Amino acid sequence: MQGRRILLIIAGGIAAYKSLDLIRRLRERGTEVRCVLTTAGARFVTPLAVASLSGSKVFTNLFSLTDEAEMGHIRLSREADLVVVAPATADLMAKLAHGLADDLASTTLLATNQRVLLAPAMNPQMWAHPATERNVARLRADGIAFVGPNPGDMACGEVGLGRMAEPQEILAAIEALLTPAARPLAGVHALVTSGPTIEAIDPVRFIANRSSGKQGHAIATALAAAGAEVTLVRGPVHEPDPADVTVVKVESAEQMLEACRAALPAQVAVCAAAVADWKVAAPFGQKVKKQPGAAPPTLALAENPDILQALSRPGAARPRLVIGFAAETEDVVANARRKLTAKGCDWIVANDVSREQGTFGGVHNTVQLIRADAEPEAWPRMSKAEVAARLVAAIVAQLRGAPAVAA
Ligand code: C5P
Repeated sequence: MQGRRILLIIAGGIAAYKSLDLIRRLRERGTEVRCVLTTAGARFVTPLAVASLSGSKVFTNLFSLTDEAEMGHIRLSREADLVVVAPATADLMAKLAHGLADDLASTTLLATNQRVLLAPAMNPQMWAHPATERNVARLRADGIAFVGPNPGDMACGEVGLGRMAEPQEILAAIEALLTPAARPLAGVHALVTSGPTIEAIDPVRFIANRSSGKQGHAIATALAAAGAEVTLVRGPVHEPDPADVTVVKVESAEQMLEACRAALPAQVAVCAAAVADWKVAAPFGQKVKKQPGAAPPTLALAENPDILQALSRPGAARPRLVIGFAAETEDVVANARRKLTAKGCDWIVANDVSREQGTFGGVHNTVQLIRADAEPEAWPRMSKAEVAARLVAAIVAQLRGAPAVAA
């Protein structure tokens, strides 16, 4: 951290007071901190406090002639090793997700060629709003890093997910992004499957499932952030393609298997896709017409290839670590254990997808990590991004224990 340069953007939120502590902690570590304070941010903390703690001029206004003369927003954004936004408001995140640039903070964020870390802080309803959800997914896909938000009491009196991460957590996230050890999977090729597969009935109809691809995409993003070279083989989803990942778009299970085989060799495979177990045995070549008085057509199904099982098969091409997912609606652990044995994979991430959990399409997941030779690890309910980060941490630890793998 010594000698590194942080550009800290303080947006308008009550959590801005914690950013003063963050500045102090950064400077204690010998980090140079320059600050941009938005107009709303300046209502919560004063430019004088920020300037005093950072020991440098505070930048507030895009059109200030002196600011531009002394340091234009382009230089300001590029001279830092990392741009940190704390607190990151729903408004500023929305601007960044859409490329808006109408003040110094948003212009700087658009102009930077450095990594950006956001520490969101907002009311839980605002954080859970589909618009914010979309913006966060977009920003993650653009390669923006996040720390928090945390659950807990809010200044507005509500309780939920939306508290800004604590200064020491933000500091840890900054350290992780600035140190080379933050890329522990450099040199590792990871294969991830994500989303549903669709199986044609005729040229216009298909059999599909409710998978959104959110979890698989989050894993691909987290693996890439850890430095892995990632191939994401994905079925039809609305999720944006993650940044820094090779994306292969497929539709059917057979295409997915073929794309996975083509992507090998890989050291890690994470099969998060909801692959259709069955395909239509003989899809109709033409659109099936409804005939008055005729019985509805009967669909004969045939079994699809099991991609997870195929990737787990022993042999030279087998990835060192093969991880499957088990979407269960009952007896989650017992069924996941059976699956682990039947498919021959190393780990299963088991999740309860019964409707009341809201896992399909939602941003949260409650999972258990099942390994062949260990007790199931039940993780608390967390965002799919956090599940991904935790899974990647477990992957790193596993590969570190296996000396043959470049990690
Ligand atoms: O058997 P089940 O579908 O519950 O197993 C889920 C796991 O197996 C997931 O990891 C999924 O990606 C994988 N799978 C697969 N190919 C199939 C069916 C499931 O890779 N045909």
